[in-house]
Amino acid sequence: MQSASYSPGLEGVIAAETRISFLDTEQEEIVVRGYNLLELIRTVGYVDVVGLLLDEQLPDAQRRQQLERELCTAEVPQRVYEILALLPPAMHAMDRLRTAVSALAGFDPNANSADPEEERRKAPRLIGQIAQIVANLTRIAGGQPPIPFDPQRSFAENFLHTIVAREVSAAEVRAFDQALIAYSEHELPNSTFAARVVASTLADAYGALTAAVASLKGPLHGGANEAVMYMLLEAGSADALERLIREKLARKERIMGFGHRVYMRRMDPRAQLLKETLRELVAAKGTGAELLEMCERGEAVMHAEKGLYPNLDYYAAPVYYLLDIPIELYTPIFFAARSAGLLAHIVEQHAQNRLYRPRVVYTGPRGLRVGA
Ligand code: SDX
Repeated sequence: MQSASYSPGLEGVIAAETRISFLDTEQEEIVVRGYNLLELIRTVGYVDVVGLLLDEQLPDAQRRQQLERELCTAEVPQRVYEILALLPPAMHAMDRLRTAVSALAGFDPNANSADPEEERRKAPRLIGQIAQIVANLTRIAGGQPPIPFDPQRSFAENFLHTIVAREVSAAEVRAFDQALIAYSEHELPNSTFAARVVASTLADAYGALTAAVASLKGPLHGGANEAVMYMLLEAGSADALERLIREKLARKERIMGFGHRVYMRRMDPRAQLLKETLRELVAAKGTGAELLEMCERGEAVMHAEKGLYPNLDYYAAPVYYLLDIPIELYTPIFFAARSAGLLAHIVEQHAQNRLYRPRVVYTGPRGLRVGA
C-alpha cells in the first residue's frame, strides 16, 4: 500500500498510468499518443484524432473513411429523442444531455459490457450518437424534429451544419474542426477522472460517460465556456469588459476562462491556438473584430491584475459565437468532442483496472457513546 498522504483536490497527485496523453508543462507540450496536440490541430482533422485516440495510431485513408462513415451514420434511437422531448425546455442543456447519454444504454444490447475491445469497437458509434444528440438539443427543446447527419458531408461539417441549420463555409468548418480537436483529450481533468473512477468498479461505459457529463457541467470545469460568452455579452466593449473584470476581482469573484490547475500561471497552449483560430475566423468572415479586441483586452487585464492566463474556454467561446452556435451548446459540444478521449480512457481503465478507493483524514469526534 502506498504511503498515506493528503493533497486537497488531489492537487499534484498522480492518479493513473496512461498511454493516452500527458501535459508536459516543462516542455509546454500537450502530448496525445506521442503527438503534440497543437500540431494535430494544425495538420489533421477531428476524425483523425478519434482514430489516434481509439486505435493508438493515426488512421490511414481507409480507416479514416470507415471512421467518418461510422461517425456520420450512427443512428440515435428515436426513443432517446422522445425522452429528450419530454424534458422541460428550461432544463439545462447539460442535464438534458446527461439524461440522453444515460438513456442510450437502453438501446445497446451490450450496454453492460466492460470488455475493452467491445467498447473500442462501439466507440465511433457512441461518439457519432452523442454529436447528433448535442447538435439537436436546442431544436428538440424548441419542439422541432431532430435532423440526422448527412452521410455525404464530413463529420465536422455535419456537426456544425446541424447545429446552425444553414450552409456553412469551409473556413467555418475548419475553425469548428480545430476546436473539436482542441477539446478532444487533455490528460486527467475532473470529468475524465470521474469516468475512470466509475469505470474502475467495472461499471459500463454509459455510466462512466454519464458521470463525466455531470462533472463537466460545473462552472469550474466545462461550464466555463458558456460563462465566458455571457460575460463578454454583458460587457459589450473592451472598456466595459475591463471595468467588469476589475469589479468582479474586487468582489473576489473568479473570472471564467482564466486559470488552470495544471498550467497555474502559464498560458494554456490550446488557448493560444484558439486565439489564432479566432483571428482567422474574424478575417474570413469580415466581422468580430471588436469581439477579438475585447478578448485581448480581458487577457491583458487578467495578466496585469492576477498574473493569470486564459484557458481554452476563453477563446473557444468567441469562436463558437462567430459560428452562430447557441451559447447553451458550448459545454455540450465540449463533451461531444471529449467523448473520444473519454472512451479511450474508459477502454484503458477496463483493460488494466485497479478499483479507485482513496482514504481520508478524519477530523470528526471519536469515542462518543449512545445515551452518554
Ligand atoms: C477546463 O483540468 C483540465 O484540464 C480542465 C480543462 C480540460 O481540458 O478538461 O482544461 C477544461 O476546465 C478549463 C478551466 C475552466 N474553468 C474556468 O475557467 C473557471 C475559472 N477558473 C478557476 O476557477 C480556476 O482557475 C480553476 C478552477 C480552473 C483552477 O483552480 P485551482 O487550481 O483550484 O486554483 P485556485 O482556486 O487554488 O486559485 C489559485 C489562485 C487563487 O488566488 P489566491 O486566493 O491564492 O489569492 O488563483 C486565483 C485564486 O483566487 N484564481 C483566480 C482564477 N483562477 C484562480 N482568480 C480569479 N479568476 C480566476 N479564474
